[in-house]
Amino acid sequence: MSEATAASTPPVLGIDIGGSGIKGAPVDLSTGEFAADRLRIDTPSASTPENVADVVAQIVEHFGGQIAADGPIGITIPAVVTHGITRSAANIDKSWINCDAEKIFEDKLGRDILLVNDADAAGVAEVKYGAAAGHPGLVVLTTLGTGIGTAILYRGVLVPNSELGHLEIDGYDAEKRAASSIKDKEGLSYAKWAKRLQRYYETLEALLWPDLIVVGGGVSKDSDKFLPLIDINAEMVPAKLRNTAGIVGAAWLAANRLQQPALVREGTAAESALVE
Ligand code: BGC
Repeated sequence: MSEATAASTPPVLGIDIGGSGIKGAPVDLSTGEFAADRLRIDTPSASTPENVADVVAQIVEHFGGQIAADGPIGITIPAVVTHGITRSAANIDKSWINCDAEKIFEDKLGRDILLVNDADAAGVAEVKYGAAAGHPGLVVLTTLGTGIGTAILYRGVLVPNSELGHLEIDGYDAEKRAASSIKDKEGLSYAKWAKRLQRYYETLEALLWPDLIVVGGGVSKDSDKFLPLIDINAEMVPAKLRNTAGIVGAAWLAANRLQQPALVREGTAAESALVE
């Protein structure tokens, strides 16, 4: 199956839902770059599915003239998403838990929606366009931010919802010790934080033995201050796409969902196409 990346295809809208902002941009899938400036709107303080869908609709309307009229849209969310249903909620309203979220967006927007975990979208973007482009083996992406998000990709195919930021290490939920928000909250130096990261990444490695670990999240721009202090077998590199990764990965997935069957929702045309 060929990828929807040809330069002649119109840009595809990607939208990244976060705890403080909802960001969107049309993505040129031939390059993985934004085709227009990103729009950011504050996440509503009551971040329920309905309120968030209203903001997403504003973003879709804003870019309406720049994307295909009936084109699919990719949306990320900081939650586990199994076949369109959100199963958890990190920094967003708890009413997302067990919510038929992809369907809510589809009904609101009248378009095909691909809803995906935020770290999974970033992992896909790095494998398609970034630090792991074309990697032939096992890649793990970690995003170090408010929490720790993870994505597992083998030869470009995503194993969704890995949630390895929640590994229990030394009696702690790993992200409560090693996320970059904890570094800030506890005022840790890079050297002290790197010790916690060492413990996290050596545990992760002992369980999965990836060939390559891509380190994303805002703090990856300062990777020279902590990556050299981490000593494991796998190659570790900073993410390339930085804060565009979620939007870019979501857009790619919306256009290429049949290549990632684990994300397809039951009962949809995409599912029928897969089982035919
Ligand atoms: C959540 C993940 C999410 C990550 C990054 C974690 O706390 O459990 O679903 O990908 O934060 O936002």
